[in-house]
This record gives sequence, C-alpha cells and structure tokens, in this order.
Amino acid sequence: MAGQKIDGIEVSNAVKEILKDAVKKLNSENVVPCLATVLVGDDPASATYVKNKHIACEKIGIKTKDHKLSADITQEELNKIIDKLNNDKEVHGILVQLPLSKQLDEFATISRISPIKDVDGLTPQNVGLLSMGKSILRPCTPSGIMEMFYYYKINLEGKNIVMINRSNLIGKPLYHLLLQNNATVISCHSKTDNLNEYCKNADVIISAVGDRSKFKLTSDMIKQDAIVIDVAISRHEGKLVGDADYDDIIQKASWVTPVPGGVGPMTVAMLLKNTVTAASLSKEIVG
Ligand code: GUN
Repeated sequence: MAGQKIDGIEVSNAVKEILKDAVKKLNSENVVPCLATVLVGDDPASATYVKNKHIACEKIGIKTKDHKLSADITQEELNKIIDKLNNDKEVHGILVQLPLSKQLDEFATISRISPIKDVDGLTPQNVGLLSMGKSILRPCTPSGIMEMFYYYKINLEGKNIVMINRSNLIGKPLYHLLLQNNATVISCHSKTDNLNEYCKNADVIISAVGDRSKFKLTSDMIKQDAIVIDVAISRHEGKLVGDADYDDIIQKASWVTPVPGGVGPMTVAMLLKNTVTAASLSKEIVG
C-alpha cells in the first residue's frame, strides 16, 4: 500500500489560523507585530523568498519593513542598519536573508541582531539556548519540520533518524529538536562514507542536499515504511524538485513530504509564529 503525503500547505494553514487570533489579541493590547527583512543584493531566488515572507505576514496582520541593500554594501553600513532595527520599538523581528555577499561576514552580521528580535533563531545566544532545550525563538525550517510531526502525530521516540545536512540553518538545530523528542539522530553530510547504508537502516530520513546531480533518494535506498522529509528544493529539467523522487518513494514509505508543498510553506509559517512570539515577548519586556 502506498504511503501518505505530509501536506505542508495544510499544516501551515492550521498554524496561520491560530496566529491570526494571536495577532488580534496583540492588536487589542495595542501591539502590531512587525517583521523587518534585510536583503543584500539581487539574487532572484532570495528576492522571491523574501517577497513570499512579506505576503504571508500581511495576510495574517503582521506589518513588514523591507530593506533592500546593494550587493556591495560594507559591513559597517550593514551593521548600522541592524543597530537601527534593534533600537526600533516598532520592529519585533529582524530577518537577514542568507546567503550574504562575499565581502560580508555572516557570523558577525547574525550575531549583531538582538536575540529577542532574532526570528531566525540563528544568533549565538539562541543557538545556545536551543542546544540546552531552553529556546523560545527557533530556526524556522527545523521547527516547521517538528510541527509537521506533531500535526500528524508521528511519534519519534526511539526512532532511528538519518539527516543528510549539517548546516547552521537546518541540520544542527534539527539535531537538537529531534534529540529532545527522544529520537536517535545520525548527522550525515557530503563526506559521509556509505551514505546508502545509513539510509537503508533509517526509520526517518530528513534530506536537504539540494543538488539532484549529486544526490537523488529513490525507493531502493529506503526501508519499507520509512518516513521521508524532503527539505531540498532546486530546479531540475525545468521543474522544482526535492532530493526524493516523490512518486517512487511514496510506494514504499509510510509518510513523505512533497516538493513543492511540503517543508517550504512550514518555514514561512514558523517565521510568522516567531514574529508573533517576539511581539508578545516585547510586550512582557515593555509593559
Ligand atoms: N536562506 C535560506 N533559508 C533561510 C532562512 O531560513 N533564513 C534566512 N535568514 N535566510 C535563509
């Protein structure tokens, strides 16, 4: 029997419905949640991601401020903009879209964001809190994946989970969240020997490679009834695809996320959630 789709659009809509009420409650307390985005350069994919984040915010009543900066901006100029947003009482969340231009220092940039406005959960303070199980603002893609597990009541306890990604945005934060749900987590990456062996033994595979010419997950590589979370999105032969061959994998897996319509919408939904949380935090601090 074929497996079931994990529908990121359905789950993200459920999250957004709850957030709409939370925004109304904040409004009644004279708080209008506000997200400021910073986009450096004119990479079309990054511009589309940021635009989609703005549209999603506006749909649920989150105000947005847009900062589009020239690709050759200096670190000093960027720092000044972040400082201004840190001090702007109207702004509750700050998102600096990654990657940055080559002359900029990603670590220095992210570290400059005030941790209570860090709706990406990427500042050293929030990364530390996450590793200790005490985080409030968590990275959006990993927390979106966890939200999908909770929504479909997929219990991770004792499960053997193979992740193929070790980035600060996905693999590392997800490692902590999975561990906190009592899973056994193996972090694989581009230098892992015998990756196929890990995949074959996994109850859950979370794949975020994003290059079909290097890696493609097919049904012969997974065990019967495995769960496959496909985080990747790339253009291949004119189509948007993930790492997994969805039509093939779903014949053997128990649950699979499609691309598009899987993890992507969840990333945006969790950004909205973090912004609403940051706005609520600001109220506790100010009022
Ligand atoms: N670039 C790709 N994904 C992300 C994300 O989740 N946050 C930021 N800031 N940049 C990204």
